Amino acid sequence: MHLFKLCFSDFVKLVTSNNNNNSMLASVTCTAPVNIATIKYWGKRDENLILPLNSSLSGTLHQDDLKTTTTAVASESFEEDALWLNGKKEDVNSVRYQNVLKTIRSRATKLMDKKHFVHICSINNFPTAAGLASSASGYACLVYVLAQLYGVEGDVSSIARLGSGSACRSMFGGFVKWEMGTKADGSDSIAVQVAPESHWPDMNIIVLVVNDKKKETSSTDGMQRSAQTSAMMKERCATTVPERMVTIERAIQEHDFQTFGDITMKDSDDFHEVCATTDPPIYYLNDTSRYIMNLIHRYNKLAGSVRCAYTFDAGPNACIYLPQESVAEVLSLFLKHFPAGEGVQNYYRGTDEVFAKVNDYQ
Ligand code: DP6
Repeated sequence: MHLFKLCFSDFVKLVTSNNNNNSMLASVTCTAPVNIATIKYWGKRDENLILPLNSSLSGTLHQDDLKTTTTAVASESFEEDALWLNGKKEDVNSVRYQNVLKTIRSRATKLMDKKHFVHICSINNFPTAAGLASSASGYACLVYVLAQLYGVEGDVSSIARLGSGSACRSMFGGFVKWEMGTKADGSDSIAVQVAPESHWPDMNIIVLVVNDKKKETSSTDGMQRSAQTSAMMKERCATTVPERMVTIERAIQEHDFQTFGDITMKDSDDFHEVCATTDPPIYYLNDTSRYIMNLIHRYNKLAGSVRCAYTFDAGPNACIYLPQESVAEVLSLFLKHFPAGEGVQNYYRGTDEVFAKVNDYQ
């Protein structure tokens, strides 16, 4: 198990760029962080344009923690587009890559004179496809890098959405909502920043990597099956999520962690209940995930308030939202239950002051 202490910072970031209209070879490198949804996106109304059945909301993590780094090079001498993910060649002809590439090229203001193919190299510094939002940081980074390379102006979150729905939220820092929109062409299905990273600097996230293996059911397949078969989907999309979006946005504006944490845990629970009521059922959580959930509920109950809140995406790994004042105590709780040396690796990056407090609690 790994513990990361994360905080909010900037969104996608340009690292290097050598890009002008006349150059034979243009290159851009960017990094993009993952985002962790507190109101989950699950289900599409349009599979090709990736238009969701419900709005969603997330926090974008720190660049230096869970991130994707992508370099794209365009050259007249390349004979085809090509893409490598973590050193392995990917099929660049997949619908999603093609949708992204075509849209970028249709909005290009650079590299338009001749046919430039592009070679893309992307690396995650964390487990890929293990329910840690790797497709979010991956496509956010890919789209940003291509937008820089081809000189695409204006909002590009809708292009990131074409790669992976949750990726549109990684185009902004802080708290970000993805408005589901209602138009058939998806032009109003965009990411909007609810509050910048500076709004709630006190907010932290701890990620507990329970299992870093690739998940059996991808989010894409899982949500399609849920939309078709889970009886819970209708009410979730019609009432539950719209109400929660309003309440959690208000909680963020008011720094109300009680409400924020309560809704975050409820939405995670409901999302996994939707999965369990899918035919055939999908189970992303394991015994360790449930142990963590139970631990957090017991801890909050003893404290008499919501001191920390879990959320689980399509995998067993836990993301814990918590205010700074709870960090030392909650970390010491996890270290006690999952001690170092017993399969636990601690990647927590905190201040010396927090570490001193963790030791006090041990
Ligand atoms: C459980 O964005 O990976 O993480 O749009 O099919 O690529 P596609 O799915 P993806 O789904 C993420 C689902 C989730 C919840 C969330 O991040 O909102």
